[in-house]
Amino acid sequence: MGSSLSCCNSEKDDEGLYVGEGKNSSSPWRIFTYKELHVATNGFSEDYKLGEGGFGSVYWGKTSDGLQIAVKKLKSMNSKAEMEFAVEVEVLGRVRHKNLLGLRGYCAGNDQRLIVYDYMPNLSLLSHLHGQFAGEVQLDWKKRMKIALGSAEGLLYLHHEVTPHIIHRDIKASNVLLDSNFNPLVADFGFAKLIPEGVSHMTTRVKGTLGYLAPEYAMWGKVSESCDVYSFGILLLEIVTARKPIEKLPGGIKRTITEWAEPYITRGRFKDLVDPKLCGNFDENELVQTVNVAALCVQSEADKRPKMREVVALLKGEDLNPKGGSMRIKSVKYGEDLMALDQESDDEGNGYEDESSVYGVFGALDTQKMKDPYYKGYGDRR
Ligand SMILES: Nc1ncnc2c1ncn2[C@@H]1O[C@H](COP(=O)(O)OP(=O)(O)OP(=O)(O)O)[C@@H](O)[C@H]1O
Ligand SMILES: [Mg+2]
Repeated sequence: MGSSLSCCNSEKDDEGLYVGEGKNSSSPWRIFTYKELHVATNGFSEDYKLGEGGFGSVYWGKTSDGLQIAVKKLKSMNSKAEMEFAVEVEVLGRVRHKNLLGLRGYCAGNDQRLIVYDYMPNLSLLSHLHGQFAGEVQLDWKKRMKIALGSAEGLLYLHHEVTPHIIHRDIKASNVLLDSNFNPLVADFGFAKLIPEGVSHMTTRVKGTLGYLAPEYAMWGKVSESCDVYSFGILLLEIVTARKPIEKLPGGIKRTITEWAEPYITRGRFKDLVDPKLCGNFDENELVQTVNVAALCVQSEADKRPKMREVVALLKGEDLNPKGGSMRIKSVKYGEDLMALDQESDDEGNGYEDESSVYGVFGALDTQKMKDPYYKGYGDRR
């Protein structure tokens, strides 16, 4: 049972709950009881649902002491053994950075596995670029640059500063949450660790990630930090252009954001890439720098992509003399392969259309079926 587990430097409080290090510190985390979360979310009411992802549903809630929370209720089929789950959540709970959405706590017991985060009042980047806030254009150029740099810093921390290093694997606009000042907080890092071996959220019917996947990951399941770098490059293009990673054209044809952007980038027509909703209000130097960084990140060859440390430096405007004239998107070939995968999942009849699916089709993509010609351990997502 959850209540029999201890967490870091935990102690039992008056209500029998364990509280994380420094009950009164600025970022305490603790074990919640199921009852408490049930009450906070009005019985996990549909009205309180913020959305649904590959791992389960997320609900808004308010604790008895007034804290607004987001509760992720993991699908029970993905539940890890309680102790194992607790240990891994505890590891993730220790990861603290201004641009990472840290855990507020968790609940594990019987068949339930729940993770509690602080509620982010400006929701996700996705909701501003393509969702319910898209029409309001709250994200001016300055905010977009702040979101780009902050997300990069969060990712840099995961890749290079936390021990053991964490590969996110699911960098995308819905996993960049925005606080009341539009500071970005990258969410759902390390999540793959909470899912039992052999069960992948990629085999669920949730769509929305395919457009971000590095070719070697999408096709052969080959995971490394550079997969995150690729996804981050797509995210940068999305932030600048407000286009979806994959868009459906009339007639059912699909196009990746890289295919769309490449001709503009190669001709140096950077201004034509910018989200028209910004009405020309952007910094041209920052635009060129950001698009060039994106182009470096989305190169098909993983070892040519920069490390997140370089990405952060470049986004800060530092001149690292980045690989001379090779700043060219080389992903169009991948675009064709990707479309073939996308078509396969379409053929399996995915009809799911909500905010999490606006990027095209992810559905039945099964990386384990596809063989990497030069890597014997294909299908391994670790
Ligand atoms: N702390 C939070 N505050 C506000 N909204 C949140 C919070 N956590 C998640 N959400 C929103 O809830 C919705 C569902 O999130 P969830 O993480 O389950 O799915 P996802 O991000 O679309 O996909 P994935 O499962 O790959 O992460 C998303 O729109 C997400 O932005
Ligand atoms: Mg998410």
